Amino acid sequence: MVTVRAPATSANLGSGFDVFGVAFDRPADVVTVERARETTIEVTGVGSEYIPSDPAKNTAGVVASALDAPAHIAIDKGVRPSSGLGSSAASAAATAVALNELYDRNLSDHELVRVAAEGEAAVSGTAHADNVAPAILGGFTVVRDGGVESVDASIPLVAVLPDIVVSTRDARRVVPETLSMDDMVETVGSAATLTIGMHRNDPELVGQGMRESVVTPARAALIQGYDRAVDAACAAGATGATVSGAGPAILAVTHRGDQRDVAGAMLDAFEAEGIDARAYTSTIGNGATVF
Ligand code: HSE
Repeated sequence: MVTVRAPATSANLGSGFDVFGVAFDRPADVVTVERARETTIEVTGVGSEYIPSDPAKNTAGVVASALDAPAHIAIDKGVRPSSGLGSSAASAAATAVALNELYDRNLSDHELVRVAAEGEAAVSGTAHADNVAPAILGGFTVVRDGGVESVDASIPLVAVLPDIVVSTRDARRVVPETLSMDDMVETVGSAATLTIGMHRNDPELVGQGMRESVVTPARAALIQGYDRAVDAACAAGATGATVSGAGPAILAVTHRGDQRDVAGAMLDAFEAEGIDARAYTSTIGNGATVF
């Protein structure tokens, strides 16, 4: 029996659409695998009622099939599904790492990112590795066609998850297909600034580097209370805030010591909109961990 914890993650970070990701130190999914003749899945925890236990429809089941590693897979969800916090990625990542260990497959972390992304693709229809990469490798990750790079960073984060539903399909559909040269220059400048900020552990640069004017506003329009929450976060000391993944969670970067104020301000903003929300304070954390 092997148990693995894989964390929530945030993809995009504004300027790094489909490229950047970070691992949180919490919340996390915890997955326990045990050898079996055929794969079965049991899901407990937050939002488990929305997650299919059919192995063909569950990211963990698809990962088991890709690794030819049948198992009983027990998933304890800490990351709410459809949150923009990498819920299915956390399950896929934890399962890939756990089965690699259970069956002595000796795959590298980078190979496991590919396998976990296959699991995500089979279930969600989109093969983005920008959540599974940080869920496995930890830190700040950059995913491109040629592979994935990661670097450790210590940046305080606040994620606020409003109790609203944004369909992943809508969040993808509203992404513009073209952008102007001005927007491209702004995005490249922001992405480069954010990357330097991660290397220097500088929340100011990371927050500035999240600015992006193409995908973010299109998706923000799907999240009631977004502008109010972002304004409140910045007034309370956040260095930047943006849509986390496909939403509806909002990710804010802060200086150390400002996290509680930023979280409180964002929660108040959603309350003023009549929307329940929950906040997670974290720093950029480690990837999947075998117990
Ligand atoms: N980069 C992806 C998106 C992450 O924003 O759609 C969610 O799968």
